[in-house]
Amino acid sequence: MTAKTLVFLILATCSLFTLALGSQTYQGKWKLLKKNIGVSAMHMQLLPNDKIIAFDWKSSGPSNISLPEGKCIVDSETTTDCYSHSVEFDPTSRSIRPLTIKTDTWCSSGALLSNGVLIQSGGYRLGERVIRSFRACASCDWVEHSNGLITPRWYASNQVLPNGKIIVVGGVNQFNYEFIPKTSTSDRTLYQLPFLKETRYSPLIPNNLYPFLHLTPDGNLFIFANDRAILLDYVNNKVVKNYPVMPGGVSRNYPSTGSSVLLPLILSRNFNVNPKAEVFICGGTVPDSNRKANAGDFIPASKSCGRLVITAKNPRWEMEEMPLNRLMGDMILLPTGDVLIINGAAKGSAGWNLGREPVLNPVLYRPDAPFSAKISRFELLSPSQIPRVYHSTAHLLSDGRVLVGGSNPNSNYNFTALYPTELSLEAFYPPYFSSNVPRPLISKINPGTNLKYKQKVSMHFHLDQRQKELGKIYVTMVAPSFTTHSYSMNQMLLVLALDSEAQKVDSSNYVVDVHAPATARLAPSGYYQLFVVHEGVPSKGTWVHIE
Ligand SMILES: *[C@@H]1O[C@H](CO)[C@@H](O)[C@H](O)[C@H]1NC(C)=O
Ligand SMILES: *[C@@H]1O[C@H](CO)[C@@H](O)[C@H](O)[C@H]1NC(C)=O
Repeated sequence: MTAKTLVFLILATCSLFTLALGSQTYQGKWKLLKKNIGVSAMHMQLLPNDKIIAFDWKSSGPSNISLPEGKCIVDSETTTDCYSHSVEFDPTSRSIRPLTIKTDTWCSSGALLSNGVLIQSGGYRLGERVIRSFRACASCDWVEHSNGLITPRWYASNQVLPNGKIIVVGGVNQFNYEFIPKTSTSDRTLYQLPFLKETRYSPLIPNNLYPFLHLTPDGNLFIFANDRAILLDYVNNKVVKNYPVMPGGVSRNYPSTGSSVLLPLILSRNFNVNPKAEVFICGGTVPDSNRKANAGDFIPASKSCGRLVITAKNPRWEMEEMPLNRLMGDMILLPTGDVLIINGAAKGSAGWNLGREPVLNPVLYRPDAPFSAKISRFELLSPSQIPRVYHSTAHLLSDGRVLVGGSNPNSNYNFTALYPTELSLEAFYPPYFSSNVPRPLISKINPGTNLKYKQKVSMHFHLDQRQKELGKIYVTMVAPSFTTHSYSMNQMLLVLALDSEAQKVDSSNYVVDVHAPATARLAPSGYYQLFVVHEGVPSKGTWVHIE
């Protein structure tokens, strides 16, 4: 054997070894955080104090957690309800605090205001026009404002706007939108949106509920429903663009539920240049799978995903296939900018008892990876043990884990059904947790955590570097989302423009200068988490506020 062959053999063996090791250790892991939080985490929001607010719905019957003494709700002269349907969960201590919801929040929506107050809107029956607010503090509870909405909102979507308001779009039999909280005449106006009627498959099987909303850097709102999309100038109530129909004959919104994310917005140092905005939508199923599932015929969900540059002059869908069929999957932007697709089922439809073959494996999608007929941007990750079908949720935590909860495919809490009501919370640890690359630790943000638009920000971080070379560094800014029905409202990730490359301060401390986003069109005023990413491994997030 020549020396050359030997070297080649050693190299080949080494790379095989790394590959094998890679496929074994880099698929992430699961951990059960709490077997029973008392309610099913059907709606979830992370607050800037790192607590999670979770709630299900009042008419689902007695939950597994009681309201504190003296807090029972008197529903009528004859009935009193002493069960809680909302909890505050602390992912660090794993403690739970029951909260008081007086009216029904079933299939509702929410968003964080600029000041960090959680605004929840709509629901069912007595709750259908209610707006509820929750301020983060040790003893705070829900405050309800009846008739806060102009019209009932059940299965509507919310998005925080650059002007600080929240737009609430659609809902069952609602072909319109409105703005909350209500302070001006325009907030007290109901705006018609015929697109929501046009995209409805049928009154019984709408396939366009919980429409997907994404802000575009030009100040408009992208709205996707069923298999079509528009760009809405919501101020002037004008459709400024009709996008091509998404190919494949697949419906993407409730009850043919798929999911959608705005891919990372890459900000440039030149503030006059708007970043490219691209939407990525995955999963769903054929339009009448709900009718068929009701008749006992569970149709395989779709594998297809589509990417659309919504800021392009002539946008065109670019289609890809996931390794697994999936509906009711959650799409979560990880701090690295990759997309995690998690939860859901491979057959059937959204709705009680209509999903089959839970998909236990999450899938990672790398938006920047090369793509061809032979190379996939997807990677299959480690499976959970717990089916998460209808009414399941997922949410990014500050430490980079993904909190997973819910699943209640029944009309009440039912622990003997085929897929029982889930009161548990799990954490999924994405592959970067098992990586050998050291994790950066943010030590200081200069001049502080209250950011101004366009401001230069110095991110100081610590890194245990065995090798001398610093790898690729970038800084991401993530908006906390409100998640329900496989859709994370307000989810957004910005890759901040670098002012200069990362510099070494001393043996294990570094600094990288970045620019805060230029305007509220790119990042509405409010709370965000900043992450330093080194060689694909994120730090823990630090909360900042921008205005
Ligand atoms: C919750 O479930 C446990 C176990 O089934 C039961 O012992 C407990 O009484 C339940 N709590 C409430 C408030 O229903
Ligand atoms: C729970 O679900 C099973 C299977 O669908 C059903 O037979 C049973 O009646 C349900 N139990 C309750 C309490 O609703």
